[in-house]
Amino acid sequence: MTQQLIDSGIEEKISKVVGGISNLPTPPIVFSQIQKVLSNPNTSAFDIAAIIQEDPAISAKVLKLTNSAYYGLPSEIESVKQAVVIVGLEAVKNLVLSASVFEAFSKGKLDKEFQDVFWRHSLGVAFAARLLAHTLKSKMMFDAEAAFSAGMLHDIGKMVISVYMPDDFAKINELREQKPNTPDHVLEEEVLGYNHMQIGALLGKEWKLPAKLIEAISFHHFPQLNESENSLPFLIHMGNYLTHFTFDSEPDSEISIEPVAEGVVNFVGTSIDQLNGCADLLREEYGKSETFMEMAKGM
Ligand SMILES: [Fe+2]
Ligand SMILES: [Fe+2]
Repeated sequence: MTQQLIDSGIEEKISKVVGGISNLPTPPIVFSQIQKVLSNPNTSAFDIAAIIQEDPAISAKVLKLTNSAYYGLPSEIESVKQAVVIVGLEAVKNLVLSASVFEAFSKGKLDKEFQDVFWRHSLGVAFAARLLAHTLKSKMMFDAEAAFSAGMLHDIGKMVISVYMPDDFAKINELREQKPNTPDHVLEEEVLGYNHMQIGALLGKEWKLPAKLIEAISFHHFPQLNESENSLPFLIHMGNYLTHFTFDSEPDSEISIEPVAEGVVNFVGTSIDQLNGCADLLREEYGKSETFMEMAKGM
């Protein structure tokens, strides 16, 4: 797997496939501008608000998300600047990323049923990763807001397959019927020769996302293979597990959820019981996320 992730032959192949897709979603421009400005320590809420306001569609979405039940603010936020001051620079940056990604994948031929399941899962992992970042007392420091973005984007490669490679997408779905307990990345490799982690990482590079986010996308199924100090892939891996455990596992089902990769719980300093114990909290958080879902579905 590590080999595949760094194999330049494979990367070239995926680049060709992704490069050959016309109207690939545009990079979230506002997001990358904000990132640039945030690297300057003198950046103010005013600077960030000014950038967001350049894009009225994104501004409207940021306001809607800030005013959603998720933040539970006592009174209505009316300006982007107020939003930045109240929920914070990092949180707004991530709202912009969410809004941009929803926008990027809202056009073209979409499999509505897949979209629904996809965004529910992605948002679940975003909320789960953020929750775990706050909850886990570990030797690692977790950045809760980066965790949210990484959760939102971790499976974005699947979205690319669904929208831009519909024939392969259909083949992968057929194969899943025959092998219901095989992880998606294995099915994808069988059909395509590469997987959604690799496609997502490539899209992340094109979008000039931060390296930590790209690593989280690349390694979310195998966090122990990442060689950098980045803790995000671990957090997303556990968030992915917790989301499946909370929403997709049924006691007597023949379909099992992908377990936590070996060594991860010890490495992070938690236990499976502690992880599973977060399911109720996750359900509660998720209950407040309807506005995110509506936006994902372009409502
Ligand atoms: Fe995945
Ligand atoms: Fe996932």
